Amino acid sequence: MRILIVYTTRYGTTEKAVRLTRKLFEIEGHVVEVKRAEENPSTEDYDLVVLSAPVYRDGPYWELMEWVEKRREELENVPKAFLLVAMHLAGSVFMGKLHGGIAYSQPLIEAFDVPPFHGTLIGGEIDVERLSDEDRRKMRRFYAVLGEKLESKSLYREEDVKAFVRRTLLYYDWFGRHFRRGEVEKARDFDFMEKIREMEERLNAES
Ligand SMILES: Cc1cc2nc3c(=O)[nH]c(=O)nc-3n(C[C@H](O)[C@H](O)[C@H](O)COP(=O)(O)O)c2cc1C
Repeated sequence: MRILIVYTTRYGTTEKAVRLTRKLFEIEGHVVEVKRAEENPSTEDYDLVVLSAPVYRDGPYWELMEWVEKRREELENVPKAFLLVAMHLAGSVFMGKLHGGIAYSQPLIEAFDVPPFHGTLIGGEIDVERLSDEDRRKMRRFYAVLGEKLESKSLYREEDVKAFVRRTLLYYDWFGRHFRRGEVEKARDFDFMEKIREMEERLNAES
């Protein structure tokens, strides 16, 4: 199938994840185009669109959200998956509400009538030396307020990107391809756990 990956990045980790995503889709025989959100790419004529961005200040980077806003109508007509890159992976409960972790993706889910059929969050990187002066200052202050220290670290793992690609293709096959305007009803009765049980039985029978 034809896949469009639209992404944005500030320090390159998301770009690294996108490069690997592209390669893995291509290995599976798909035709992939990669565009920056800032180029305002059209999504017409694709079977799947993957949205990818780092999390900054508690949400997907605004350049991706700005593109989503511009192309929202078009995006209702094509199945979507997302890959977000962040440091606060586990998330937490803050003032009784979910905060961080997968909750960072809420704006990407709420932006559409037909939401993405799949998406996940993978680990990012902080290289203190490479941060702009302003970002370094902001981050230092934020951590200092919490009594913590800003340190370089990497939570990026290729395995997480591989799992994202594998699952995106599997879920696309199972139900994701119907996640477009006028068709999503077809996926309404899909039962994930029943499907898993069915696959388990098939695997057991084969072994
Ligand atoms: C100014 C700034 C704000 C950030 N805010 C968050 C945040 O709210 N939550 C989080 O989990 N990570 C946050 N991060 C970490 C980034 O998501 C992480 O460094 C990511 O790898 C950056 O991706 P990029 O290299 O593609 O720009 C922040 C990083 C910076 C520099």
